[in-house]
Amino acid sequence: MNSNLFSPLTLRDITLKNRIVVSPMCQYSAEDGFPNDWHFVHLGTRAVGGAALIFTEAASVSPEGRISPADLGIWKDEHIAPLKRITDFIHQNGSVAGIQLAHAGYKASSQEPWHGQSYITPEDGGWEVFSPSEVLLADEVSISTTITLAGVEKVIEDFKNATRRALEAGFKVIEIHAAHGYLVHEFMSPLINKRTDEYGGSFENRIKLLLQITDEVRMIVPENLPLFVRISATDWLENGWTIDDSIKLSTILKDRGVEVVDCSSGGLTPPEKIPVGFGYQVPFAKTIREKTGMKTGAVGMIVSAQQAEEIISSGEADLVFLAREMLRNPYFPMHAAYELGYDTQWAKQYERAKRTKK
Ligand SMILES: Cc1cc2nc3c(=O)[nH]c(=O)nc-3n(C[C@H](O)[C@H](O)[C@H](O)COP(=O)(O)O)c2cc1C
Repeated sequence: MNSNLFSPLTLRDITLKNRIVVSPMCQYSAEDGFPNDWHFVHLGTRAVGGAALIFTEAASVSPEGRISPADLGIWKDEHIAPLKRITDFIHQNGSVAGIQLAHAGYKASSQEPWHGQSYITPEDGGWEVFSPSEVLLADEVSISTTITLAGVEKVIEDFKNATRRALEAGFKVIEIHAAHGYLVHEFMSPLINKRTDEYGGSFENRIKLLLQITDEVRMIVPENLPLFVRISATDWLENGWTIDDSIKLSTILKDRGVEVVDCSSGGLTPPEKIPVGFGYQVPFAKTIREKTGMKTGAVGMIVSAQQAEEIISSGEADLVFLAREMLRNPYFPMHAAYELGYDTQWAKQYERAKRTKK
């Protein structure tokens, strides 16, 4: 049977064998930024499962940009070799390896979720955290330091160096994390960014950091490889970043050589009211795709073969990013192909277990 979900997509010189992407997912299992056997097995299993593109979790471009002390990192050359082991395995098994580059901004220096996720003070082994302007918690306590212009320059430089390392580690797709209330998103949202300099105020000033990072990264990523940006398409908050801002931004990113906007939402600290449900963020991918011609990724509660097929077939998005479903079932693509009556290639070691619909 024909399946749009299982049709290939070529982005520059990279051909994805289907439209299923493993969405970036923090594993909080690294030490000093280094990936270990957990990351190798976790990401490798999803390549065996048949996803076309497998993103690492948010890999921090600097030690201070980590959400937790156990985040994956790419701030030193020593990180390259263990990452290369993972990308080699992914590529040997027919998938494409991608990396999400990130800086957590004021959400840095937190405990792992299973330890409560609260802020770790420098006295307790945490570190000073940075944001575009002071962020006050509900009790008016300030938790972050306003980043200086020199600090902003360092962040751009860190993204640049991280990109060079990511390429050396064999990644074929780079994604800049500009969503979920982390540093780049904090600059974009008028709710967090209260700066009065060239990085604050107008829409143009607030997106400046993302554009500078994009330009630097795009310059290092070879012409034949694609660049993705993950955004929060809306803050879901009054006076925050809106879908109209996302449309405007996507047009600009397209002109600067970005191939795919990965459309997530929310993540700033003031609690949003998000109408969570199956495919609740898909309309953002659809709108941005329609209004700008940018290729988009849809993410958020995509859990079944039929739902994923429908998103691609109806032109709502070019790619589907799956996170939790991929944790429940790393072999989702193999099962989805079966359900859709589509024949895919399995790892030769697993071939004897393959079912096909008559
Ligand atoms: C365990 C876990 C870790 C995550 N870590 C990241 C991350 O590193 N970067 C990111 O952009 N999103 C992260 N997310 C968000 C997912 O990529 C995805 O956007 C979200 O879970 C919604 O998709 P889903 O409904 O398929 O899970 C994480 C989600 C989960 C469940």
